[in-house]
Amino acid sequence: MSENIVEFKNVSKWYGEGENRTEVLSNINLTIKEGEFLAIVGFTGSGKTTLINLISGLLEPDEGEVLFKGKPIKGTSHERGIIFQNYSLLPWLNVFQNVALAVKEVHPDWSQEQITEHTERFIEMVHLSPAKNKLPKELSGGMRQRVSVARALSMDPEMLLMDEPLGALDALTRGVLQEEILRIWSANRRTALLITNDVDEGVFMADRIIPLNPGPNATLGPEYMIELDRPRDKKALNSDPKFKEVRTAILNYLVDLGEAAKLEKKAEFILPDYKPMMPNSRSFPFFRRKKGRA
Ligand SMILES: Nc1ncnc2c1ncn2[C@@H]1O[C@H](COP(=O)(O)OP(=O)(O)OP(=O)(O)O)[C@@H](O)[C@H]1O
Ligand SMILES: [Mg+2]
Repeated sequence: MSENIVEFKNVSKWYGEGENRTEVLSNINLTIKEGEFLAIVGFTGSGKTTLINLISGLLEPDEGEVLFKGKPIKGTSHERGIIFQNYSLLPWLNVFQNVALAVKEVHPDWSQEQITEHTERFIEMVHLSPAKNKLPKELSGGMRQRVSVARALSMDPEMLLMDEPLGALDALTRGVLQEEILRIWSANRRTALLITNDVDEGVFMADRIIPLNPGPNATLGPEYMIELDRPRDKKALNSDPKFKEVRTAILNYLVDLGEAAKLEKKAEFILPDYKPMMPNSRSFPFFRRKKGRA
C-alpha cells in the first residue's frame, strides 16, 4: 500500500485577531496518499487557497498540524510545486526567464544548454514558444496562466499543488493542459492536489474528490472515489454510466448545500485580471519625464 504523503491532523486556521477573528478552516482531517490525484471542489471563499497554502508551506495552521512525509511542514520547498491562482510571475522577467529561473533553482548543477533545452520544452508544451521573450504584462490572463503551468511542471515536484490552474483558459487549451498534467503526473508517479470549481474537470482528472463545505468554519464533505480506468478519454467518458453517476452525486451534494448558484457565479468570474505590478509610463509620469517624452 502506498504511504500517506500529506496528513492534516485536526487543523484549524483563522485570520484576524480579537473581534475580527474568523475561523476559515475548522478541524480538518485529511490524508493524501503518495501517487494519488486528489481534487477539492468548493465554493468561492470557502478556504480552498488557504488549505493548499497550508501544504505549500506559505501558511501554518493555528491549531493542529500538517505533515509532509511524516514531518510538520515548515516553509516552502521544491518538493511541493504550486500553480498559483493568480499566476504570480515575476513581472520584470520574460516568459523564458520566468520558467528558466525555476528550472535553475531545482537543477543548480545543470549547464546553460540543459536549462535552455528543458525550459523551451515546457514553454512549447503550453504553446507559448512564439511569446517566450514577452514580459507578463504583454500577455493575456490565459497566457500568464500557461506560463505558471509550465513553470510548475518544469520543476517536476514530488507533489504538484494546483489552485484553480486552468480557470482562465478556453475549453480547448484547458483540455490540452489537463492531459499534459495527467501525463506528467502518471509518467513520474507524482502526487497531485487540484483545486477546482469544475466538477467535470475534477472527475476527469482525479482519483478522489472531496468537496470543501462553505465557510466560515469550513469542513470537508464526503469523499467520492473516481474509479474510472486510465488513461481516460474525455469523449468516451461523457457516455460512461460510472462517470455520469459520480458526477451527478457530487453535483447533487453541492446543490443540496443550497449553494449551487454561487458555484455557477464563480465560474463566470473565474478570470482574475491581475496585472503585474510594473510601473509604466502612463501610471508614473515621473518615468515619462525621465525618458524625455513628457
Ligand atoms: N490574509 C487574509 N486575511 C484575512 N482574511 C483572509 C485572508 N486570506 C483569505 N481570507 C478570507 O478567508 C476566506 C477563505 O479564503 P480563500 O482564499 O482560502 O478562499 P478560496 O476558497 O480559495 O476562494 P476562491 O474560490 O475565491 O479562490 C475568505 O473569506 C477570505 O476573505
Ligand atoms: Mg482561492
